[in-house]
Amino acid sequence: MNIIDGKETARKIKQEIAAEVKKMTDAGERPPHLSAILVGHDGGSESYMANKVKACAECGFNSDLIRFDEDITEEQLLKEIQKLNENPDVDGFIVQLPLPKHIDEQKITEAIDYRKDVDGFNPINVGRLSIGLPGFRSATPAGIIDLLDRYGIETKGKHAVVLGRSNIVGKPVAILLMQKAQPGDCTVTVCHSSTKNLKEICREADIIVAALGRPGFVTEDMVKPGAVIIDVGTTRVPDATRKSGFRLCGDVDFDNVAEKCSYITPVPGGVGPMTICSLMKNTLLARKGLFNK
Ligand code: GUN
Repeated sequence: MNIIDGKETARKIKQEIAAEVKKMTDAGERPPHLSAILVGHDGGSESYMANKVKACAECGFNSDLIRFDEDITEEQLLKEIQKLNENPDVDGFIVQLPLPKHIDEQKITEAIDYRKDVDGFNPINVGRLSIGLPGFRSATPAGIIDLLDRYGIETKGKHAVVLGRSNIVGKPVAILLMQKAQPGDCTVTVCHSSTKNLKEICREADIIVAALGRPGFVTEDMVKPGAVIIDVGTTRVPDATRKSGFRLCGDVDFDNVAEKCSYITPVPGGVGPMTICSLMKNTLLARKGLFNK
């Protein structure tokens, strides 16, 4: 069994990005600029945001964090998005989710100009991804594909089973895995809450991508010997022994599954660090004018 080290892979990718940015700035060009909007003070969002700002610094990007109170209206937020859409110094920006209940997340996502949508959540980017056109790929699925690529894992003709059908992980990762590409070219089955015989389907899988948000859901009896296991789960489980008061739990029963599979991503340190890396890659692409060619 091999551990897929997302932390180390992300470190290498960020180094490669930083080297490219250095070339840009040495040539007198402006470095990429990522802006991020954070509404309110959700604990998870705060820590995601701190990691994103840190990653920008590591890559040599300019970044700024724009904070608003919980009570900002949808209209005000839409105006702020418009300002960023029109600001030529901002290459890409994100609005951290979740947003307070009085704000329609879909409306916000669609208000972000697709050419600056480095999260890849805008339906234009999702649609372009679906038909294999260049666009911003959503960060977690892109990070998973990069891990498969960097570890040289053969995917062509393999049966990939995706657990979960969310718009930000399950659906886009299924699309990327079925795309005629390397990594890709898989036969993909997407399982969800109404799937019958889920265990049997998993047992047929060469690759399992678990993105359900249910700690320890994938057990050893669901895994074919030699399968590749990608764990996207990051549920916060209360843990009094930790300073933070919680620990991150994946969707896979790691200790028992690890012995049976060929490759596995740990939680934390697997897919998580790659997600931020993909955001950095998208921001660099935005700076280089992905849609201006
Ligand atoms: N909340 C949790 N993950 C993400 C992400 O990747 N992007 C945004 N905008 N919000 C998130």
